[in-house]
Amino acid sequence: MPSPDEIRDSQRAAWAGLAAGWEKWDSVIMDQLAPVGAAIIEGLGIGQRHHHLDIASGTGEPGLTIARLAVEGRVVLTDLAPEMLDIATRRAAAQGIANIETRVCSADDLPFGDAAFDSVSVRFGYMFFPDMATATAEFARVLKPGGRLCASVWVKPEENPWTSIAMQAIGTETAVPSPAPDAPNMFRCAAPGYISALYEDAGLLDIAEWDVPVELTTKSPEQYWAMISEHVSLAVAALQRIDEPGRARIRAHAIANVRAFEKDGTVRVPGLARCIVGTKQS
Ligand SMILES: C[S@@+](CC[C@H](N)C(=O)[O-])C[C@H]1O[C@@H](n2cnc3c(N)ncnc32)[C@H](O)[C@@H]1O
Repeated sequence: MPSPDEIRDSQRAAWAGLAAGWEKWDSVIMDQLAPVGAAIIEGLGIGQRHHHLDIASGTGEPGLTIARLAVEGRVVLTDLAPEMLDIATRRAAAQGIANIETRVCSADDLPFGDAAFDSVSVRFGYMFFPDMATATAEFARVLKPGGRLCASVWVKPEENPWTSIAMQAIGTETAVPSPAPDAPNMFRCAAPGYISALYEDAGLLDIAEWDVPVELTTKSPEQYWAMISEHVSLAVAALQRIDEPGRARIRAHAIANVRAFEKDGTVRVPGLARCIVGTKQS
């Protein structure tokens, strides 16, 4: 089992490498994940004056949308990878959002004082943290009493054909090793109650989980494969180990299988996320 420092180093390097793909496919990714951002925002009950902390912000969501709602407040976007936060800064400028700041840090070691924030969000970050219990304790520490934490994780691969089609295609060329249960991967937190148990251990109250459907929409099966192979962490890592002819066969396989989701010239592939909310005791 790698040490927490080794996990942080490998995640930092992985996301530095994925950043260009996330920027290139920004609008497709953001459209797919928007229902989850909306669910997190609803769970948090963002107020106009909220001082909000977005963890593992990546290219900026849901922090940037929250900044637009907290018009008299402020949002701090944090991430381990400066390359991802650089994109968030560019997106904020393009959208005219000024009430934000960025901070490079790991979720399990936050450079903020106790009770500094009204709310905390973590969209698709938990599964990559070296120590999820320590991270949750940090989120609870920086929340004001009565403040809420809301996170999202992916439900199991069978409910997420948008990514399992690609992984199954990759599996035709190479054995994709099942990740160790405690190692970072997209589906590490898929079990119902997994994140709720972390919240409970951190002393949060009024914990609730609910599922949120998403849909990945691309203009063609070819565009589906291009965007998946350039930004999905599991796929990018697996494809790096395969030679060019093998990658071409995988591409053809994935494109053939995703055609089942093509209708009227558009590809729409479903997926399922889970949101988890909890409140710090008043
Ligand atoms: C799937 S992206 C999510 C980005 C964004 N929240 C969204 O939903 O579009 C996961 C992010 O987690 C970040 N990350 C990985 N390990 C982290 C850690 N220990 N602390 C903070 N962020 C981390 C990565 O750098 C990456 O930007």
